[in-house]
Amino acid sequence: MARIVGGIVTSHVPAIGRAIAGGLQQEAYWKPFFDGFAPVQQWLAEVKPDVAVVIYNDHGLNFFLDKMPTFAVGAAPQYSNADEGWGIPTLPAFPGDQDLSWHLIEELVAKEFDLTTCQEMLVDHAFTLPMKLLWPNAGEAWPVRTVPVCINTVQHPLPSAGRCFKLGQAIGEAVASWDADARVVVIGTGGLSHQLDGERAGFINKSFDLEFMDSLVNDPAWATRYSVEELIELTGTQGIELLMWVAARAALGGVDQVRKLHANYHIPISNTAAGLMLFESKD
Ligand code: DHB
Ligand code: FE
Repeated sequence: MARIVGGIVTSHVPAIGRAIAGGLQQEAYWKPFFDGFAPVQQWLAEVKPDVAVVIYNDHGLNFFLDKMPTFAVGAAPQYSNADEGWGIPTLPAFPGDQDLSWHLIEELVAKEFDLTTCQEMLVDHAFTLPMKLLWPNAGEAWPVRTVPVCINTVQHPLPSAGRCFKLGQAIGEAVASWDADARVVVIGTGGLSHQLDGERAGFINKSFDLEFMDSLVNDPAWATRYSVEELIELTGTQGIELLMWVAARAALGGVDQVRKLHANYHIPISNTAAGLMLFESKD
């Protein structure tokens, strides 16, 4: 049976793509952010997962306001990136794992998650940049197969934190029942607090972010006490992307099943409070 070896949650910001393309990692603005990834890269090099389930939110590249699934799962042989208009280079296509995709889809639908299944799917910066941050030397050949899981944070109504937590639990159970000798890492991308639009543009809530990060260690369902509207008030209109962290952490199981190996938090990257956490599954 397959095994979840751990989980990684990180922010995603288009400007990271420009910094990587320009080789700015050691500049004063970027260093505290990029340096945070070294221990995670090292852990990945040691643990060598076979597959990454990447929980992220599309920003209009694959889904737009005309058709917006609440939850979508990729089931494609590969996933291409494309120009989103941010002026960042596109990254090489990511290999899929259709066997895990369809197993996840079967299991999640059986547990009453009504999914959109995507046999073609473009992946945007929320998927590609975390992959590049985690495997900076991948070149053309990514070292893991991937299964994208997309949660709507764009077109209201959005799924609640409680619903995303249950989705994550179901993903964790589905991976554990996948009949494959594979090591799986679960990645969640988005957040932490940020707001790109309106009167509160630039809004960041450090104390909430730190409490949230702490909750993923000590009480992973903590954020489910808040409604989507309350989370947006607390973290900003795009801070709601923390739903990806809630789902990814839920996939790893309870407080006794994981240990936190690393965390980093840095303000700001563009408009965003950038967070990063690495969890390893206990044997
Ligand atoms: C920014 C952050 C995001 O999460 C995103 O998707 C786009 C832009 C930003 O801070 O600039
Ligand atoms: Fe985003």
